[in-house]
Amino acid sequence: MSEISTGSTPEELLAIAVRVAREGAVTARRMRDEAIGDVQTKSTDTDVVTAADKAVERQVVEALLADRPGDGVLGEEYGDSVAVAPGAVRWILDPIDGTVNYLYGLPQYAVSLAAERDGEVIAGVVVNAATGDEWTATRGGGAWRDGRRLTGSARTTLDQSMIATGFGYDARRRAHQGAVLAQLITRVRDIRRLGAAALDLCLTAEGTLDAYFEKGLNLWDHAAGGLIAAEAGLVVSGLSGAPAGGQMLVAAPPALFPALHDVLVELDAAGGP
Ligand code: IPD
Repeated sequence: MSEISTGSTPEELLAIAVRVAREGAVTARRMRDEAIGDVQTKSTDTDVVTAADKAVERQVVEALLADRPGDGVLGEEYGDSVAVAPGAVRWILDPIDGTVNYLYGLPQYAVSLAAERDGEVIAGVVVNAATGDEWTATRGGGAWRDGRRLTGSARTTLDQSMIATGFGYDARRRAHQGAVLAQLITRVRDIRRLGAAALDLCLTAEGTLDAYFEKGLNLWDHAAGGLIAAEAGLVVSGLSGAPAGGQMLVAAPPALFPALHDVLVELDAAGGP
């Protein structure tokens, strides 16, 4: 084994993550290209997505454990592989974030892979499998895209801001999310729903979007992208001092966060089912 594959600094873990996430992205893209006939003509839409999700996850997990057999993996499809001991690394993987985009061939679906130690995400990569765009971060080492350090948007007022969000799959949750948006949309420049939380976070980290919020995310949706946003200098948090998580995740530049936070509290964005 090479030195890098056995190392466990954030930078060394990131190097492994980037390699296996890129390979996973190639598989996701290839499987969609090959299955395009099935996607369009059969009633197997979700089967195509599920097969690709599982194949990418299996490939990434096998590659990680080949390099680092003692690590744990939390994956969207297979769950938690093993309990990790204190100080050990747990990888957090979303094999295809943006599965509905994947189904439709919309070019926003990504492999999201993070390394966590003792409950803290220390390295993360998000690869847009459709375009090859890639964002990375290590804790304390900044967030990067194409050799450019990311610093988020310079926007300071909510009414001039482009805010991204997403919706859960449950209809009752969507009803509440829709009601929140109906109010929010009158107070911001505009709203975007791109369909892949990891990419929403990366686009916010680079300042293409001004801010992002969503209720109901799973850890694999936001582990890598959340670190990338935080390392770009954004506030990544829940509401009223809660940590970012399933109840609510807000990612916004420090100058914008208080205004967005307060309106989300006012609209009870973390409430509902
Ligand atoms: C979903 C996407 C979507 C977000 C949902 C997620 P998936 O992940 O990130 O943008 O709104 O909350 O569940 O199902 O495509 O991996």
